[in-house]
Amino acid sequence: MVSAMFVFANSSSPATLHAYSFMAASNLLIYLDGKIVPESEAKISVFDHGLLYGDGCFEGIRIYNGRVFRLTEHLVRLYESARSICLTIPISLEEMEKATVETVAANNLRDGYIRLLITRGVGPLGLNPYQCPKAGIIIIASGISLYSAEKYETGLNLITCATRRPTPAALSPQVKSLNYLNNIMAKIECIQAGCEEGIMLNEQGYVAECTGDNVFVIKGGQVYTPTIASGALNGITRMAVIEVMREMGLQVHEITMTRHEIYTADECFLTGTAAEVIPAVQYDRRLIGDGKPGKLTADIIKRFKVLANSTGTPVPYSA
Ligand SMILES: Cc1ncc(COP(=O)(O)O)c(C=O)c1O
Repeated sequence: MVSAMFVFANSSSPATLHAYSFMAASNLLIYLDGKIVPESEAKISVFDHGLLYGDGCFEGIRIYNGRVFRLTEHLVRLYESARSICLTIPISLEEMEKATVETVAANNLRDGYIRLLITRGVGPLGLNPYQCPKAGIIIIASGISLYSAEKYETGLNLITCATRRPTPAALSPQVKSLNYLNNIMAKIECIQAGCEEGIMLNEQGYVAECTGDNVFVIKGGQVYTPTIASGALNGITRMAVIEVMREMGLQVHEITMTRHEIYTADECFLTGTAAEVIPAVQYDRRLIGDGKPGKLTADIIKRFKVLANSTGTPVPYSA
């Protein structure tokens, strides 16, 4: 039994920046550098460069119905993030897969969320990552709730964030780095505007994605989403939903998208491991379509749930 949970109180005002409450778990078990330990013993050094510089990478992964959804895809992306930043993960992908499902089993979690972090490890003050001899590995199996249950029925309100996605010339948007300040700045804008989410544009002003989700629009029965080259993360949920939509016979186009495409869409929805699939009904104070979650979106959500609950890597529970 896992008792850690985030309670989403109300996202509609800046005051609610403080409205999340966290019930600390006394019996949560954490994987830390090869051992599964109680949360109270899961401690890392203040000299870990993951903390000092946000030097490291991470993944967020869902557990549905006793299976880990698209685990290999998440781990491939994790190892690619690490490789891109010259970070050697001290265990193989297969060993990471085993460690992940064993952490879920240790917590007897049938549905939930896994946060897997690789930190650069302990080293002296100063940026030099080559002075950190061994990367740290942390696996948390718990829960996550980005938006209230009501928003999955009524849809999200979006704004355009002034904060842009970083240019790949600075850091590839494909690296899920431990430094999410760019996205956090954009999220602050959304909350201060009384919205739950926001569209982040790339340096050229084209739509990239949201603060932690990919974006899709539907117009005239066809589906459109920004290309990865626009600065969108190559989302695992994005890919799963594209597969679902193609099975439904829908045509899906990856395009260079402007805000106009969202303003004039019939339907809009977001995808992400934490967010799952959620409709958006307003953008920059304009209604999207008739301002209600769309019928195709509802069908896509239903089919995605079937896929998520019927596939994935089984967890070796002891009972
Ligand atoms: C910036 C960003 N975009 C999109 C996503 C959605 O990706 P995925 O579906 O792989 O979780 C995430 C979450 O990982 C994210 O952090």
